[in-house]
Parts: sequence; structure tokens; C-alpha cells
Amino acid sequence: SQTNNAFGQTQQAFAFILNNFSSIGQGYLSITEWRAVVDRLYALEVSLRHHHEAAAAPRIVYERGDDAGLAIEHLSLTLPDGRKLLDALDLRVAPGERLLLNGPTGSGKSTLVRAIAGIWPFGEGRVTRPAGRMLFVPQRPYLANGRLIESIGFPYAEALDPALVAAVLQRVGLGHLVDRLDSEQAWDRELSLGEQQRIGFARCVLLRPDVVILDEATSSLDEAYEASMYQILLEELPEATIISVGHRSTIIRYHTRRLHLAGDGGWRVEMLTAGEPAK
Ligand SMILES: Nc1ncnc2c1ncn2[C@@H]1O[C@H](COP(=O)(O)OP(=O)(O)O)[C@@H](O)[C@H]1O
Ligand SMILES: [Mg+2]
Repeated sequence: SQTNNAFGQTQQAFAFILNNFSSIGQGYLSITEWRAVVDRLYALEVSLRHHHEAAAAPRIVYERGDDAGLAIEHLSLTLPDGRKLLDALDLRVAPGERLLLNGPTGSGKSTLVRAIAGIWPFGEGRVTRPAGRMLFVPQRPYLANGRLIESIGFPYAEALDPALVAAVLQRVGLGHLVDRLDSEQAWDRELSLGEQQRIGFARCVLLRPDVVILDEATSSLDEAYEASMYQILLEELPEATIISVGHRSTIIRYHTRRLHLAGDGGWRVEMLTAGEPAK
């Protein structure tokens, strides 16, 4: 339907905003404003479908914590059609903890990431978000048209030292782009997905968030590159809380716990020991 389409488009717009205005609650384009748009679309969809009872349905409650941890209490997520994706998740991610989120395709990993971001309205429970800055690194990091340095550093490009940007690009294997930092291009078409994903990691190093949420952020990198991206992340942001969605068993070692989503609402959490053999 038209409304479903509008909803889907808004979700995409949010992907854009989250990649772009990479941290939440910093004040520039407030996520609260955007959330209000989603809420209005949600309300519209509900009224168009004559599901008046749904308007009074429980909602996800958001709070802001006082450290770089994240608390999820009794969080249930559903699809717009009511199908249950996640059933009463209880999880506290401590500051500095590194959580691997996995599960089959369609099990709701990206939806959980959206719910943490505050842009998935279907569900109930409580999410206490970190006090610091959260950076979302999606599979395809958003790259604006224009000068590469502005696109990489957005919206903080002004505050970045070009020499530092150059050094970080070298570090993530993008030294060949250093001479093109001032060049204006449609960078999302110019660069391969693998290069764009390495820019996602360069952003982490440059923007120094307290919490990093990576959603299939290394899908187009080979195992060696993926490993080096995680090593850089851990070296450069040793205190950061990290939540990552990824498939390869080789990234298990960079995480301390695993949250597995079954896809039918079920979930389980398990400890990971460093260097655990691949499963
Ligand atoms: N905007 C949306 N509207 C309706 N269904 C959606 C929407 N986004 C995702 N879904 C559905 O939610 C389920 C979980 O999707 P997703 O969270 O992307 O899974 P994963 O990231 O684990 O592969 C899938 O069945 C998907 O089709
Ligand atoms: Mg996904």
C-alpha cells in the first residue's frame, strides 16, 4: 500500500540520517524530530488500517543512561503485520563490552539495531541508551556527494585535521584516496563497497564514539581485511562499547559475548572466550 511504501521510505531516510548524522542526541538534526515523523507515519498507517486499538498499543520506552553501557529490558519487537521478531529480550551491555549479534537472515538483527537507535516503532519494552555518542556503521556507509573529506567527516569535517584524516585513511588501506580528499565526486558510485566499508571504519577512528554499532559492516571485505578492521577498532577505541552484526566465525575473537536471535522470537546469550575456535 501507499502507506507501507511511505513507511519503507522513511526507514530508508533514517538509514541515511543515522549514517550521516552519525551520533544520536547531539542536537544537530535531532533524532527526536525524526522519530516524530515515524510516529506520525505510524499513526497514519494505523488509522488507515482502522486498527484503532493499535494506537493505544504499548510502545518502546527510551531512556538515557549515565555511562557507555546499554540496557535492554523486556524488549519485544514485531513487524507491522504483528509477527513477532523478538520476545522479551533482557540484556545489559556493559561499558567497553563487545557483543556479537548473530542469527539467520531475516531473524531481526537489523531491526534490533533500529530499535536501539529508536527508529523501529513496533514493539514494547525499555531501552536505556548510552550517555555518550553512538555511531552506527551500516553495510553501506552513507557517502554524500562532494569533497571526500567532508563526506568522511560529516558532520564534523570542519573539526578534523586533514593530516589525521590522511593518516587514518592509510591505516584502513585507503592511502590511494589521500590525494583525492578535496576532489568532488559521487563517492558512493566512485568507490567499491569494500572501500566504502573501510571508510566506515575510518569514521569510527576519526569520530571516536563511545558506542559503535556495526551492522554487516565488513560484508564486502575478505577475512584478512575484516580482521585488520577489527584490530584497528580495538586498538584505536579500546574503551568503546561495540555491538556488531556479522557472519564469519573469525570475528568471534573480537567479542566478549554473543546474542543469538533464532528468528521466531527466541534468543540466547552466551559468553565468548578470547580466541575461541571457529564453530
Ligand atoms: N520496514 C519493514 N517493514 C516490514 N517488514 C520489515 C521491515 N524491515 C524489515 N522487515 C522484516 O523483518 C524481518 C527481519 O528483518 P531484518 O531485521 O532486516 O533481519 P536480519 O537483519 O536479521 O537479516 C524480515 O522478515 C524482514 O522482511
Ligand atoms: Mg540485517
